[in-house]
Amino acid sequence: MDHARSLLRWYRKHGRTFPWRSGKLDPYVVLVSEIMLQQTQTSRVSEALPRFLRQFPTVFDLARAGNGEIIRQWQGMGYNSRALRLRDAAKTIVREYDGVIPSSPEILLSLPGVGPYTSAAVACFAFNTRVVVLDVNVRRVYSRLVKRQKYTTDVEPDEVLTRFAESLIPQRTSSQWHHAVMDLGATICTARAPQCTVCPLASLCPSNNVLQSVSRTRKKEPEFRGKPQRIWRGRFIEVLRGQKPHTHLRPAQLFALATQSPLSAHEEEWFTAVLNRLEADGLILRTRWGVRLAD
Ligand code: ADE
Repeated sequence: MDHARSLLRWYRKHGRTFPWRSGKLDPYVVLVSEIMLQQTQTSRVSEALPRFLRQFPTVFDLARAGNGEIIRQWQGMGYNSRALRLRDAAKTIVREYDGVIPSSPEILLSLPGVGPYTSAAVACFAFNTRVVVLDVNVRRVYSRLVKRQKYTTDVEPDEVLTRFAESLIPQRTSSQWHHAVMDLGATICTARAPQCTVCPLASLCPSNNVLQSVSRTRKKEPEFRGKPQRIWRGRFIEVLRGQKPHTHLRPAQLFALATQSPLSAHEEEWFTAVLNRLEADGLILRTRWGVRLAD
């Protein structure tokens, strides 16, 4: 209980403000923001969310959106196929649940694009349900609290963290509690340079002031011309998004616009594979006139 009191007091004073935390609580807004936050930084989501909600104010508007329309509104967020799955989730909600966002984590988990994190987060933040929400920040905070960790990168297995969290989450303030843990992880209990001296949980934390830093090694992603393939995918979509509706580009033209250089013979195989993937993901259409953003 000491954890909860100290942390919630800290949160009331130092918690971050975000568009999805202010105003009237709307489960639809929580669902959209949590899908966006899966892979995109809070600052970018803060910018994109209000724009997206102006275009699609309700789950009914979103359910009706075509692929092209929704990819255009997803601008700046990356991982565009997420947007299509979110629209598919909206369709399911309209068709099977009368447009009411489900509160049950199990039902949420069955929706397209909704995994264990998002289902727990929506249940928690939209309905204040007492469920364990684990994201990368929360895992780090709990790991350091549950036992003394040696390195800044150390984390405990999810089973251990879940059991620990169940003993910590307050009965009636699950939403606030999780906001607080996320903010502590983002601002004080950080991945590389934890600031234990100003942490509200320092006196309760076995890892207080003992963590040793580890130099960072990046996971290797598939690369092309020194950039991850995912970045190139995003650039191709960006170029197509910039065209007038129904304008086609020849594949070589698209390549040249996105990379600022002509398509050479040895790069064609890579480029074709990327286009195949974008097409299979429903992001682009290929016709005999060339390539364009999906409808
Ligand atoms: N508040 C609710 N969900 C959040 C998230 N994923 N990141 C930061 N703040 C949040």
